[in-house]
Amino acid sequence: MTVTMDTLVSLCKRRGFVFQSSEIYGGTGSCYDYGPLGVELKNNLKRLWWRDFVQSRPDMVGIDASILMHPSVWKASGHLDNFTDPMVDCRECKLRFRADDVDTRPWTHYCAATKGNRFTIPAGEPCSHCGARRTLCPDCGKGELTAPRQFNLMFKTFMGPVEEEASVAYLRPETAQAMFVNFENVLQSMRLKLPFGIAQAGRSFRNEITPGNFIFRTREFEQMEIEYFVNPRDTVEGRPADEYWHDRWIADCMAWFRRYGLREENLRLREHGQDELSHYSKRTVDIDYRFPIGWSELMGIANRTDFDLKQHAKFSGKSLTYFDEERKEHVVPYVVEPASGVDRALLAFLADAYAEEEVRGEKRVVLRFHPELAPVKVAILPLLKKREEIVKTAHGIRDALAKQWRVVYDDTAAIGRLYRRQDEVGTPYCVTVDVQTIGDSEKGEAGDGKVTIRDRDSMEQARVPIDALPGVFHDLLSGGAWAQVASRYPATT
Ligand code: GAP
Repeated sequence: MTVTMDTLVSLCKRRGFVFQSSEIYGGTGSCYDYGPLGVELKNNLKRLWWRDFVQSRPDMVGIDASILMHPSVWKASGHLDNFTDPMVDCRECKLRFRADDVDTRPWTHYCAATKGNRFTIPAGEPCSHCGARRTLCPDCGKGELTAPRQFNLMFKTFMGPVEEEASVAYLRPETAQAMFVNFENVLQSMRLKLPFGIAQAGRSFRNEITPGNFIFRTREFEQMEIEYFVNPRDTVEGRPADEYWHDRWIADCMAWFRRYGLREENLRLREHGQDELSHYSKRTVDIDYRFPIGWSELMGIANRTDFDLKQHAKFSGKSLTYFDEERKEHVVPYVVEPASGVDRALLAFLADAYAEEEVRGEKRVVLRFHPELAPVKVAILPLLKKREEIVKTAHGIRDALAKQWRVVYDDTAAIGRLYRRQDEVGTPYCVTVDVQTIGDSEKGEAGDGKVTIRDRDSMEQARVPIDALPGVFHDLLSGGAWAQVASRYPATT
């Protein structure tokens, strides 16, 4: 099913994934706060990316650089001169628009042919009464627009106590540049051989003129970027190394998104046309996702050539080369850059996981998160919260499992409702402690020491001994199939 953005925004707020920033003060435009479940989901996403692309690969290392960098970094990278959007301002209401965006929005018109009546006319269309096209401000309909002026998207601030030109600093608009300026430090300290990559996940800031669509485009966001350096003189399988590795990274990134749940039919590759390529890029391919707003960029994978290292060498006066032992010469490596956004990936995983279905005549909303992404792995639910021993046993299980995973205890509703709540936040497994588990001491009945595990997706249940739970969840949460559990333990209803 295709979920709408409104449905996701409402679910995110209701269930503690994402809140509008500073909401009690009316909200901060395009800034969002991750709530208790959102932060778990986001941390899981970043951890999996780090595990799969850094920790498990012999050719990768990571860094964590500061957000404030030397201003020359942005001169060298081209951001000071090129990271701009042409903007126009309304002379009357002072609103600012991206020049290429003014005619993509409905416009306000005071029509002379109808005694100056006010109309809102669909984007790009003329007035149906007088035939006029938009020339004034689309919002107020009165003010003239200025000629386009370049507006830099970097947030400017000042380092130190004096607000003067010499102390200007910028919040980084991408994490990438720290990998280039630390190239020599990392190369020497880790004694690396080409090809190798440096990864970083962290915050970036862009004063986007048209942010929006929830967490899709915001002014403060997180990126997960890799700069993968290759020797441009090398060939791999008969192809230039940079071109070979570019295609390898495209395939690896696609496989990663599929592995954690994005469906094939919602993913596609989009090759940038020559007119669209960034100033540094030889070739760029986007992985697009079918978001609720339509097909849009999920991440980009660019072949940045030797542009960045050469620019930083030029501006810093430091040599940023690699000594090719075989050829006995210094080379400037080429770089392939898989650049993704944490928030945008999180939105894609949320949208893809969302499902509504009918179960015994009732609507069930379920987030079918991959177990490794799910914010809560296991919910422990006592069947009767008035039976002290049931509650005690349930807490004991929670405490034991919580040493390894995010596990919650909930006794605030009847079992049916507790299951629905966990489905709605994507918890893959629930454990129910009942009378059978603990027995009835007054009647002299011993408990069986077993609990019911419920699988979110199939809604099947199996009866499992308490002391087998850590082993069972270890298997299930590291990729094991529910069918294996179902075949080992008796089913229950
Ligand atoms: N270093 C290259 C670079 O930053 P980019 O295409 O501008 O390339 C990479 O950004 C990714 O960062 C995008 O594909 C997107 O996922 C994410 N991203 C960029 N701008 C964003 C914004 N304003 N809000 C949320 N995510 C953003």
